[in-house]
Amino acid sequence: MMKKVLIVSLGVITLAATTGCSKVRRSPGSIYAPDMTYSRAYETYAGLDSNKFTNDPNKAGNKIFYNHQPVEGTIAEGGILYSYPYKNDSAGYAQSAKEVNPLDVASLDMKEAERLYLINCGICHGSKLDGNGPLWKGGDGPYPAAPKNFMDAAMKSMPEGTMYHSVTYGKNTMGSYASQLTVKQRWEVIAFIKQKQGATGGAPAAAKADSTTAPKAKP
Ligand code: HEC
Repeated sequence: MMKKVLIVSLGVITLAATTGCSKVRRSPGSIYAPDMTYSRAYETYAGLDSNKFTNDPNKAGNKIFYNHQPVEGTIAEGGILYSYPYKNDSAGYAQSAKEVNPLDVASLDMKEAERLYLINCGICHGSKLDGNGPLWKGGDGPYPAAPKNFMDAAMKSMPEGTMYHSVTYGKNTMGSYASQLTVKQRWEVIAFIKQKQGATGGAPAAAKADSTTAPKAKP
């Protein structure tokens, strides 16, 4: 008698267990509190469901008030009180020429600026700023495009604001450095480049020297 009951109930359990699972997808039901169902925090590597995470506040069904971009004009914590006004388009690029370094260049730590340059830019633009860093190596390196030679006349006359624009938004094959360098660091690096460009003089000085007098210092 006991055995029979056991066998029957075992059968019922097995049946329930096997029929309970099916490959047919069922709707997860309504979500009452989406901000508790979906994390608002940006999880590393998490794919964003563009239907739920949208930048458009007027989009029907926009449940999450998550926004990828900081509010325009806001300044990152720890940053300097400076907001770059020009957009990443050709008009912005032209206007960038007007922008001047907001830092007090005379009191900058140029050793630190040089360190930042060597880490972030020197690999392409060269430690001598000659556009011939190890990634380029005169065309033999792995990088497909020639980095600009900062010692060229064209780069010497490039306004610092335009440099900031290109470093912030990127230029053709060169990517943006906005996530690697803070606003202050970007301007520091540009001040370093401008200082180095100035140190070598605006015009080529080599032709000036009398060829019969032995040069004391390297040109
Ligand atoms: C991975 C290589 C690479 C690195 C690293 C790099 N650049 Fe460049 N950069 C380039 C190339 C290539 C160009 C030429 C882009 C073009 O086609 O106009 C360029 C162009 C520029 C220009 C000229 C932009 C213009 O408006 O014409 C500036 C200024 C510049 N780089 C500054 C920097 C600074 C500052 C850094 C470091 C924060 C840096 N670059 C790091 C490859 C690099």
